[in-house]
Amino acid sequence: MKYVAILGCGVVGGGVARLFTERTERIARAVGEPVQLKYILERRDCSGEPWAGLVTDDFSKIENDPELTVVCECMGGVGAALTFVRRCLKAGKSVVTSNKQLIAEYGLELLGLAKEGGCSLRFEAAVGGGIPLLRPLSEDLAVNRIDEVFGIVNGTTNYILTQMIENDRGFAEALSEAQALGYAEADPSADVDGFDAQRKLCILANLAFGSNLPPERVSAEGIRNVAAEDVACAREFGCAVKLIAHAGRLPDDRITALVAPRLVDLDRPLASVNGVMNGVVVRGDAVGECLFYGAGAGRMPTASAVVGDALEALRHGDRSPFDWGEERPERFVDPETLPFRWFVRWEGETPAGITEVCADGGHGYAGISPAWTRAQLDEATAGRRVLSRIRLLE
Ligand code: HSE
Repeated sequence: MKYVAILGCGVVGGGVARLFTERTERIARAVGEPVQLKYILERRDCSGEPWAGLVTDDFSKIENDPELTVVCECMGGVGAALTFVRRCLKAGKSVVTSNKQLIAEYGLELLGLAKEGGCSLRFEAAVGGGIPLLRPLSEDLAVNRIDEVFGIVNGTTNYILTQMIENDRGFAEALSEAQALGYAEADPSADVDGFDAQRKLCILANLAFGSNLPPERVSAEGIRNVAAEDVACAREFGCAVKLIAHAGRLPDDRITALVAPRLVDLDRPLASVNGVMNGVVVRGDAVGECLFYGAGAGRMPTASAVVGDALEALRHGDRSPFDWGEERPERFVDPETLPFRWFVRWEGETPAGITEVCADGGHGYAGISPAWTRAQLDEATAGRRVLSRIRLLE
């Protein structure tokens, strides 16, 4: 018999508890012996739940139980979660987590603690919800030089943009729906302003490039300024507006990373990734492009990834499949210095250089620029009221 514990029994933790208690046979088959959920650390009243008898508010029981080998951290944030994860790893207990902030900010330290403790740290659920993505990227594609990783990694904003595009919903209404469905972060600004995607992109970039990219080095723009007019004009250009997290290796081996709304050509698979679904493209030098697609948020998809990691930790508890790399700030390039083609909406005369124009009553009002840095774009549009500027994904 093997034993596991869960820290936090909210949306994700509740899903993990459900899978461990309802799927005992399947889990025993996967691990090779029975697995029992022994404790759930939670302060809230869980008396109505079938696992109420496992609930404790005493972390030391978990930390000091020699039978317990794997702990699922589902608390979120970097307060108590960070303290408890450190203590579990130091006690030699493998940790699996869906906590992207914890991993983006403390991944290097925690992977080091896991190594010292002879246990493992796994975080498949931290990026792409239920999609198997991080392990394939780190293990199955290990022979590749990864050149690019990009896609839709925030379910809440994708849900909001999809509702705006397909159902003419207002921004606030669509956000409330995403919150009711359990997709949104406790502070929805983390979704809407791009910080959640920024953390996920750090994790992807670190695994893809061994870059130990800190979140503050990734520029993040959210979707607050995407207007219904942008979505409608983008459609006239044959594109959808999506919040894209993109990290790439430049020819000189430097790394660039950006989270921002982008116009995505409707012919590309990412344009069809709608609702809460996520889609991530990984480009490796041997494999070419691989698209990973699936539910990016929500209780059971995320719980599926947490439990998948827990089963792997129960089988191979002494090994973390992830290599983070050291931080080398000289490797990071500010995307503002790189050229992009831009979708621009303005009031006034069509700026020189913008050739593809969507006209309104004989006056240009939206168009696509050539490949320009932001400074070149600002210069070309000087003197006009610019209503929107959104990069194209190419
Ligand atoms: N708020 C996140 C999202 C949850 O919407 O993608 C999953 O990480």
